[in-house]
Amino acid sequence: MKTSTKVSAILCAVLALALVVPVAAQTAYNRDEVIQVMRTNQQTLGQVRAALNRGDFYAAAEGFWKFAEGQNRIMKFTPPKGNKAEWDRVLGKFVDTALRGVGAAGERDAPKALKILEELQTLNKEGHSLFR
Ligand code: HEM
Repeated sequence: MKTSTKVSAILCAVLALALVVPVAAQTAYNRDEVIQVMRTNQQTLGQVRAALNRGDFYAAAEGFWKFAEGQNRIMKFTPPKGNKAEWDRVLGKFVDTALRGVGAAGERDAPKALKILEELQTLNKEGHSLFR
């Protein structure tokens, strides 16, 4: 093989790797990050309920936002168990529902916000049955 052909082949390989590596790094399941988000979820559940019971709508909105941020962050992963399209669907619905919670807190509507919290728990059950 001519030297220039070898150099071209190596350059092509390096370029292809440079394109593939970031994509792989983005979608690989990060268990530590998922577990961290889940433990935060568990604390947030208690925080939001307590905040709504004492009429602290600012703290309730913060909790709903925390729910949305965490699930939005782990959506890029491909779950080790279950199907990626279902993962995107359940987490997408979870994020949308949490954002409606921020809205309900903004309206100072505790019963509405508590109902939204229940919807999040239903999605929690669905998520765990499919992916955990
Ligand atoms: C209010 C909502 C939720 C709460 C409170 C919650 C809570 C938890 C807890 C406590 C764990 C165990 C963490 C540990 O090992 O210490 C866990 C694991 C897990 N949850 Fe959730 N979860 C919620 C929603 C969801 C949703 C919506 C999904 C997926 C669509 C999901 C997927 C998972 C998965 C895949 C694991 C296992 C992680 C692993 O070991 O790789 N969870 N969750």
